[in-house]
Amino acid sequence: MLPCARVNDYFAARRALIDETLKNIALRAGAPKPLADPLKRALTSSGKRVRGVLLMAAGEAAGCKAEKLADAAAAMEMIHASSLILDDLPSMDDALLRRGQPTLHREFGEDLAILSSVALLNHAYGLVAKNYAALTPRQWPMLQVIKRVVDAVGWDGTIAGEAVDLHSETSRLDFDTLEFIHSRKTGALFVAAAAVGAMLANTSPAALGRIEVFAKNLGLAFQITDDILDVVGSPEQLGKDVGKDADRLTFVKLAGIDGAKKLSDELVETSLSSISNLGPPAQPLRDLAAVVRTRIS
Ligand code: IPE
Ligand code: IPE
Ligand code: MG
Ligand code: MG
Repeated sequence: MLPCARVNDYFAARRALIDETLKNIALRAGAPKPLADPLKRALTSSGKRVRGVLLMAAGEAAGCKAEKLADAAAAMEMIHASSLILDDLPSMDDALLRRGQPTLHREFGEDLAILSSVALLNHAYGLVAKNYAALTPRQWPMLQVIKRVVDAVGWDGTIAGEAVDLHSETSRLDFDTLEFIHSRKTGALFVAAAAVGAMLANTSPAALGRIEVFAKNLGLAFQITDDILDVVGSPEQLGKDVGKDADRLTFVKLAGIDGAKKLSDELVETSLSSISNLGPPAQPLRDLAAVVRTRIS
């Protein structure tokens, strides 16, 4: 398993729970032979599980046990894995390495990589609905919960961020475009993960709003750190290609390494202050923020 960061016990325990859930999903997946191996790889390769842990932490802040949110947390990781498969394709970032292994299309072919991505995405929606159905009481309507997920992945979410990232004029560096890209390609799923965890845990509308602000800022900080690691990290440390952002708009290009690090730290601070009045139950969110702040892979 790749080193994640200076992880704390909270993060390590939730990551292990999500890994176990994904392993069981992979064992039960009834995909036909050609799809079975790429799907298994995509489900079980060693991701950090930050989005899944965020879902659990948001639910725990509202008083729900993490174990009860395992399927929804796994679903967030499946959506994330689906987006990474597309992001790595030759027509997109043309990446060679992901999670310390050859990218899915290099190992299994582009056709099965694309089909695995779509399969993961669709299965994930069903898994969120299954998790919702298993919980009582239910304060938020299922439609609202599911809509948070589909909107995050849609044409004003991840897909929008990826499209603008791939087609932006790199000669024109501006903060607004960068913020548009990062908040969608990465931030949207962070916000949805936190919102779904909180809603499944019957959080109040006021607490939901605070948790969403937390996730929005944390997501942005996470992607800025990714931009930094793309410059200062190595493939061995990150388990993926580096230097891929050379012809992209990034916060490192806009503000330099030090400026990007400062901005990322400020965003983590903003995220923490947004949940300051949620008290001790929100400690899991603070533990997660500490991992994002110090991550080295
Ligand atoms: C990589 O995400 C893509 C970004 C949005 C920065 P992660 O760094 O969470 O990747 P894994 O899941 O740990 O491989
Ligand atoms: C990936 O962004 C974001 C999504 C997959 C939605 P990047 O292209 O910057 O991330 P890495 O460096 O490939 O992980
Ligand atoms: Mg990309
Ligand atoms: Mg990429």
